[in-house]
Amino acid sequence: MKHMLKTLAGMTVFAVASAFPAKADTVSMFCSATDYELCEKAVQKWTNDTGHEVKLNRMPQNLDDAIPIYQQLFAAQSSDMDVLYIDVIWLGMFKDHLLDLTSLVPENEVTAHFASAADAARLDGKLLSMPFYIDTGLMFYRKDLLEKYGKQPPKTWDELTATAKEIQDAERKAGSPDIWGYSWQGRSYEGLTCDALEWIASAGGGTILSGDGEVTINNPQTEAALTRARGWIGTISPEGVLNYDEENSRALFESGNAVFHRNWPYVWGTSQAEGGKLVGKVGVSALPVGAEGQKSSGALGTAYLGVSKYSKKPELAAELLRYMVGAEDQKMRAIEGGYNPTVEALYEDADVLAKIPFLGMAKAAFEESVARPSAATGKNYNRVSRTFYRAVHDIISGKDDVAKELADLERRLERDVKAK
Ligand code: GLC
Repeated sequence: MKHMLKTLAGMTVFAVASAFPAKADTVSMFCSATDYELCEKAVQKWTNDTGHEVKLNRMPQNLDDAIPIYQQLFAAQSSDMDVLYIDVIWLGMFKDHLLDLTSLVPENEVTAHFASAADAARLDGKLLSMPFYIDTGLMFYRKDLLEKYGKQPPKTWDELTATAKEIQDAERKAGSPDIWGYSWQGRSYEGLTCDALEWIASAGGGTILSGDGEVTINNPQTEAALTRARGWIGTISPEGVLNYDEENSRALFESGNAVFHRNWPYVWGTSQAEGGKLVGKVGVSALPVGAEGQKSSGALGTAYLGVSKYSKKPELAAELLRYMVGAEDQKMRAIEGGYNPTVEALYEDADVLAKIPFLGMAKAAFEESVARPSAATGKNYNRVSRTFYRAVHDIISGKDDVAKELADLERRLERDVKAK
């Protein structure tokens, strides 16, 4: 197992000199690469307060790549992992390896979080993790450019397509040859499952599978939504979008070369950080809908922290976890990184609201958000999602007939759902 850990770049150990030598102990924690610096800061504070050390592991940039690492550590029942970051869609996949936190986290700390976020962490009657932050797909846009051309944030995907094209073309003529209308995540990976689910669900095409696991993907609304997205490539989005994840697509937007950008809330933090090109020029709205009367359907991406069942220090791990998901740390993360809290009271906190003025809108987007079918698929989620995003990638790359590809996808998903 040692070599697995070495593949995780940038392990940092936090220690305080000798203030609490008698009781001092060490726990390890896995933290996502995108918010690693915020984790470092929080852990430093916890170390200073408690005297305990934390061995922090940076997860791979692409969260999909963390799945096999976790799987191997779990299979080896490794005690190298105490506290771990868990993407909402992994809860079902990893539930057998997570410690039941019911007796380690006081109930009033659990109820401080949005009930829906906390409830999703209870599986088989056990509290398997605690909510860390909310991710919902949002639309970022160039407020200055929309104002310049007298446009409103688009309500439908067709409107987005038209406005993006109009502003892109006009700006190119006006001397910005590199500008594109729309930047998003088109690479063949989990992020594309999120983007495509948003187009499909907001067009009335369902959520890939129904709540009880029936494959629902092959329908005319899905066909129309995917055909529309395919039309964006090379017109309002660069060909390169087919290989963009969150960070590449954000780089295009933050370089000033995209009018619209779909991403998670953290882009508010990065795009408004001091010295950025877009400070004061960005607006944020809920995602457009596919058809009148449908609701905006940002993909739900809540992040959780859990404790490994194989940890040799469950009490200390739970203490660190409680600090990391608590109000003090979530407030720091909101203010410094734009991360949307799961602690409900922070949505009325003046300091947080001053930093994230659209928090009320983000809360509404979270309430309307759409979950990927990980509850229905359980351990098979990864397989189902991979089949889905690969087919979507083929479709938007223009490789195949959309209707034919959807019929094939339906068959493949039916097979995946039944896999043992
Ligand atoms: C974000 C979301 C997560 C999602 C991932 C896809 O990290 O929080 O839920 O799976 O993006 O790239």
